[in-house]
Amino acid sequence: SRVVKLAVIPGDGIGPEVVAEAEKVLDVVTADSDVTFEKTRFSLGAARFLDTGDTLTDDDLAAIKAHDAIILGAVGGTPGDPRLKDANIERGLLLKLRFTLDHYVNLRPSKLYSGAPGPLSEPGEVDFVVVREGTEGPYVGNGGAIRAGTPHEIANETSVNTAYGVERVVRYAFELAERRRQKLTLVHKTNVLVHSGGMWQRIVNEVAQEHPDVVVDYLHVDAATIFMVTNPSRFDVIVTDNLFGDILTDLAGAVTGGIGLAASGNINPDGTFPSMFEPVHGSAPDIAGQQKADPTAAILSVALLLDHLGLREEAGRVTSAVEADIADRSGSRTTTAVGDAIIARLQA
Ligand code: NAD
Ligand code: IPM
Ligand code: MN
Repeated sequence: SRVVKLAVIPGDGIGPEVVAEAEKVLDVVTADSDVTFEKTRFSLGAARFLDTGDTLTDDDLAAIKAHDAIILGAVGGTPGDPRLKDANIERGLLLKLRFTLDHYVNLRPSKLYSGAPGPLSEPGEVDFVVVREGTEGPYVGNGGAIRAGTPHEIANETSVNTAYGVERVVRYAFELAERRRQKLTLVHKTNVLVHSGGMWQRIVNEVAQEHPDVVVDYLHVDAATIFMVTNPSRFDVIVTDNLFGDILTDLAGAVTGGIGLAASGNINPDGTFPSMFEPVHGSAPDIAGQQKADPTAAILSVALLLDHLGLREEAGRVTSAVEADIADRSGSRTTTAVGDAIIARLQA
């Protein structure tokens, strides 16, 4: 039978709470399949830093690399916590994983399930995927401050966009659009960010020549936020840079039933490194430890993991169970109760 080595990083705050439910679902849905998941648990995040002073050691990284895939809950403490000033959890842990493991596709699907508590009165059919570039843009840390702390301080954060990096993610987005509804929207800010925006637009136009079936659209990112609220059904595949994609996908989550439902995959399509699956949301310190978090985003991230591993049937069963659960929700339930309800549907 096939063995999949899975690294599990529960992380901080609600991370361990939602990952516990995701693991239960994974165990149940693969119980009768010929795939065995060999799990290794990694203690990483703000809690580990406060304990040991380590964020992500070379040994951690080497050990994680030796796995086939990764599940992550969420990492990070309360924004502004002075004890974490030097921890650099987001850059030193989460982004370091995404960059080192070359997760150049940050795949963030948004689907409005029937019965989901969206804020829109007439949303229509909402089912789109944001293909967020994952290794470049303003996230790379290319910058610095001079005359720091003075009134003359200059703080730069340069967005890095390489033709190589843009082309590979654009190609992925077109291929995904081919398999979906053949529509691709580039979101950028080409009216102002003329250098990087111009290159993104040129590369999209060039790759479009190879995909005559795909209808290509363009929106400035500010206008894209309007349409995401007023007409989200216009979107099929959105391709965009790292920062625009971050912001748009929190909005997309809010529009399609809440951030507690939004799943993501940090994909290395080449298969050189393990891909990493995680909810879009963070560690939610405001509700941590209270069994209030919705584990659905983590559970749907398991569906993305299964799909990535080629276990389509299992992925479909998880998605269907979630869909049925969402259709039938009422009142508030604990994190564990949501996980158990989804598992009950899987076993029915
Ligand atoms: P957040 O996503 O943690 O929380 C934003 C709001 O959404 C909060 O009110 C929270 O209670 C709510 N929320 C989030 N997930 C929920 C769920 N599953 N069910 C119900 N409600 C949910 O964003 P934040 O407050 O900006 O960040 C908190 C910490 O998490 C920060 O340290 C941040 O850097 C980190 N973070 C980590 C990741 C990650 O690990 N992938 C992602 C985003 C933020
Ligand atoms: C996300 C998060 C991260 C990001 C942070 C925590 C580095 O907001 O996964 O969306 O900006 O990518
Ligand atoms: Mn984000």
